[in-house]
Order: sequence, then C-alpha cells, then structure tokens
Amino acid sequence: MTSPNESAQRGSWSSRTGFILAASGSAIGLGNIWRFPYVVGEGGGAAFVLIYLGFVFLIGAAVMLGELALGRHTQRNPVGAFKATAPGTLWKLVGLTGVVTGVAILSFYGVIAGWTVGYFFKTVTGSFSQAITASESQEIFGGFVANPAASVGLLFLFLGVTAVIVWRGVSGGIERVSKVLMPALLALLVLLAIRSVTLSGAGAGLAFYLAPDFSKISAQTFPAALGQAFFSLSLGMGAMITYGSYVSKKVNLVSAVGIICFLDTAIALLAGLIIFPALFHVGLSPSSGVGLVFQVLPTLFAELPAGQLFGAAFFLLLAIAALTSTISLLEVPVSYVIDEWGWSRGKAVVATATVTFLIGVPSALASGAVSFLSDLPGAAPDFLSLMSIIFGNYSLTIGSLGLAIFVGYRWGVEAAAAEFQSEGVPAVFKPIWAFLIRFLAPVGIVGILVYIIATQNYF
Ligand code: PHE
Repeated sequence: MTSPNESAQRGSWSSRTGFILAASGSAIGLGNIWRFPYVVGEGGGAAFVLIYLGFVFLIGAAVMLGELALGRHTQRNPVGAFKATAPGTLWKLVGLTGVVTGVAILSFYGVIAGWTVGYFFKTVTGSFSQAITASESQEIFGGFVANPAASVGLLFLFLGVTAVIVWRGVSGGIERVSKVLMPALLALLVLLAIRSVTLSGAGAGLAFYLAPDFSKISAQTFPAALGQAFFSLSLGMGAMITYGSYVSKKVNLVSAVGIICFLDTAIALLAGLIIFPALFHVGLSPSSGVGLVFQVLPTLFAELPAGQLFGAAFFLLLAIAALTSTISLLEVPVSYVIDEWGWSRGKAVVATATVTFLIGVPSALASGAVSFLSDLPGAAPDFLSLMSIIFGNYSLTIGSLGLAIFVGYRWGVEAAAAEFQSEGVPAVFKPIWAFLIRFLAPVGIVGILVYIIATQNYF
C-alpha cells in the first residue's frame, strides 16, 4: 500500500529524454570503457564482439523491457514490485537478491571508480607527462593501487559524491547530472576515437577488433559474453525495475529500450575504437587483463601531442561514466529502504552508503595493500575480483534468469504487454518478445550456467 508519505518520497523523471539519459547513464560506465575492451582482448577480438552483440539484442534487450515494464506497472522498488505482482510468494527473494547485489557491486565498482579519479589527478599533476615504458606504467599502477590510504580514501570520496546526488532525488539529482554529463561523455569519446584510429599502426588494432576470426571462439567465449551483456546493460539486479518505476505512463518503453541498448553498445564499441588502435600503436598485447586501461593508456598519452590534456579528459570521462552508474547502483537499495521500511531519503542514503563503504574496504585493500586479500587461498583470485565474479557475473545472470521466468510465466506476457504495447509498437512485436523472454533467454542462460558447473570453470 502506498502511504501519502511514501508517494511524496518517490520521485519521477521530468521528461522522456531525462529518463532515457539516466537509464543510459546507468548502463554506460566502467563496464563499457574499462571492462568491455579487456574482455574483448581476452576473448580474441571481433568474433567475441559479434557474439556479444547477439546477446545484447536477443537476450539483454528482452530482459530490459521486462524489468522496465514491471517497474512502471508496480511503481515500486525491486522487492515491492515482486510483492505487488505475486503477493505472499517467495518471488520477492529475486528482488531482495537484487538489492543485496546492488550494494555488493557498488562496493567494488566504487574502488575502481576511485582509481579513475586518482588517475585523473595523477595525469593533471604531470605524472605521465614524460614518456614512460609499459613496465614503468605497470609499476606506477601497482604502487598506486597498493596504497591503502589512497584506495580507501578514493572509495570514500566516490561513494560520498554518489550519495549526495542520490540524496537530491530522482529529477533534481540523477536526471540533472545525466542530462549534462552523458552528451559530454559521447563528444569526448568521439574525439578520442578519431585521435586513436589515426595513429600509426592503428590498422592492426582495427583488424583485431573488427575482422572476425572464428577460430578464436571457444566454449568459454559464451559465458564471458553473456555476463558482459548483463553487466553492461545494468540488468539482473533491479536497477531497471527501479528506474522504470519513475517513468511516466506516456513514455514508449519499447523505443526507449532500443535507444538505451543502442547507446550502450555504441559507447562500448567506441571505447574499443580508442583502446585497440592505441594498444597496437604502443605494441602491447590485447590480453593485458583488468589493468589494461590504467597500465597501458598512460604510455600512449605520454607519447601524444597534448597528451596530458588527452589523458586527463579520458580519466575524467571514465569517472563521469562510472558516476552515473554508481548512482543507479545506490538508488536500488535506497528505493527499497524508502518504500519498504518507510525511511526518509536522507536517512536511507546515509545508511546504505555507509554499509556499502564498509563492505568495500576489503576490496580497496585487495590489490597489494593486504596480502591475504590480494591473494586468496586456493583457486580464488583477489578479493575484488572475487566480488566481481560472484556479484557482477553470477548474481546478475541468475537475477536475469529469475526475471525472465517471472515475467514470462508468472506475471505473464499479457500483463507485461499491456504495459508496453503503446502507440507505434507493431503487433508482431509482442509474439517475438514473448518468444525471447519465455524461451530464448531462460534456455540460453541455463545452458551457459550448466556449462560452467559441468566444466567447473568458476573463476
Ligand atoms: N552497467 C554498468 C556499467 O557498465 C554497471 C552496472 C551494473 C550498473 C549493474 C548498475 C547495475 O558500468
């Protein structure tokens, strides 16, 4: 039930554009600019990109429409949305898992976002203004992330900024920030891509990135590409249910999903256009892993005319992209606490951000500061990577599976279609979407999970 106080605490987007920019801001983040290039690099290049595109438009887009429709229909946070459409059942646990996953992802995502701020200041203050080799750059990175005060302090700073914006509410905070920052981000990326593809040696990078070599596909390619699709589109933890709950009934959700998926994909592809030519230009391997952006790009910036400006712009833009994603990650637990516990927005923000910070401290200390956290026993990697695998991959994949089954079979295709079947949506759309959400998405996700379990390829 909605109490007057509760509805006063809930906001709404002030316009269709505001919603689309905020949702795109959630989707576009470190996932596109930092994670996409290195998983493409590890996955062998263009063939991986093709499979990823298939997952985004066949599974991701269908799940996103399901999340947005459920959110707008119920006008609730993820837990409330399941409670409203399946009262008295355990389906609410799918929503609750999402809330917990949001806090967990934010705790390690905030650490990496903090590094981007640190690298922005490093670049501005001239750390990379002289030519450095790849190994020098690796050393700088290693020293920086192993410094406990810097990592924890930057995590605190980044979560603090996120909290202030979320505290200001839906249209005043999140929407206003997204409206200015998203177009700025796009413009900066286009500039950087133009610079990168005109470097000497760019051709080899472009070939790796754009000319598919299907012999590079292995069974491992599929789970990696699917996980990347959910992570990049912010699916499987209720972020899109929450953002959908603030959308006016007049907005055409189908075209909104099309635009969000297109923009998210365009930004990821642009990031690849920046990274791969640059990589091949400095003669490094595309499979340099998670440190790719931080370790490799400074060597490039140092070599470029106006490289300091170029580099500062890049890390600023990465921090901005991360911020519009951390906002959506924090908004999920905040909306839950406001709706379900009846807390004020201010109190909800302070409490959830504090808990997230505390959970994030071990991740901030997991890159050399504390040796136990940096090298966990057994096959497990460091603590931050473990959080990223458990919550960034598995939790989102399982959450998306739960959502697809719930929308496809329990809430039902008819109810969902009644929410999105607005003017201008062709009649054939509904059966196609029903096939994707009822069959292709669950079968694809289960198939990939079974493969992981069968091969015990967990990490
Ligand atoms: N999509 C964001 C990115 O690509 C990360 C994210 C995941 C945000 C899940 C919200 C929910 O960086």
